[in-house]
Amino acid sequence: MYDFAPDRSLPKAEQYRQLLDAAEALTAGEPDGVANMANVAALLWEFLPDLNWAGFYRMIAGELVLGPFVGRPACIRIALGKGVCGTAAATAQTQLVEDVHAFPGHIACDAASRSELVAPVLREGTVIAVIDLDSPLAARFASDDAQGIEALAAMLAHRI
Ligand code: SME
Repeated sequence: MYDFAPDRSLPKAEQYRQLLDAAEALTAGEPDGVANMANVAALLWEFLPDLNWAGFYRMIAGELVLGPFVGRPACIRIALGKGVCGTAAATAQTQLVEDVHAFPGHIACDAASRSELVAPVLREGTVIAVIDLDSPLAARFASDDAQGIEALAAMLAHRI
């Protein structure tokens, strides 16, 4: 059993350091990327309040394919450049979307989603996956969330 209880009285950057440590420990020595993505999705779900989806899309043969996640069933394949995830993958840039209704081409897998944060996972400069977080709250994510998830993505580059 792995117990992880973030201390929400700490500054957010410190909470994300704890998340990173937990994810690092949870994936250390495990070569199976699916197992590691599944555990990290579960960790994100426990760690971050006000989410309705947390998980991965993997870059396979030039498109994003659904990976391990927590939340409602989601679209399976996303073309590069489409939606928030496809934009993050195509540009290799984190997408912080305060209002998904205002994002051109947003793909609504769950009508409840209002804001979204997607960070690319890069290995040797190539996007191999994205981490996708959805929230039913508008403007749920801020730049400190983006930084925390980017640090997690960097750590996972050789573990998924
Ligand atoms: N909203 C995403 C699609 C994936 S789901 O949110 C899980 C997008 O626009 O790329």
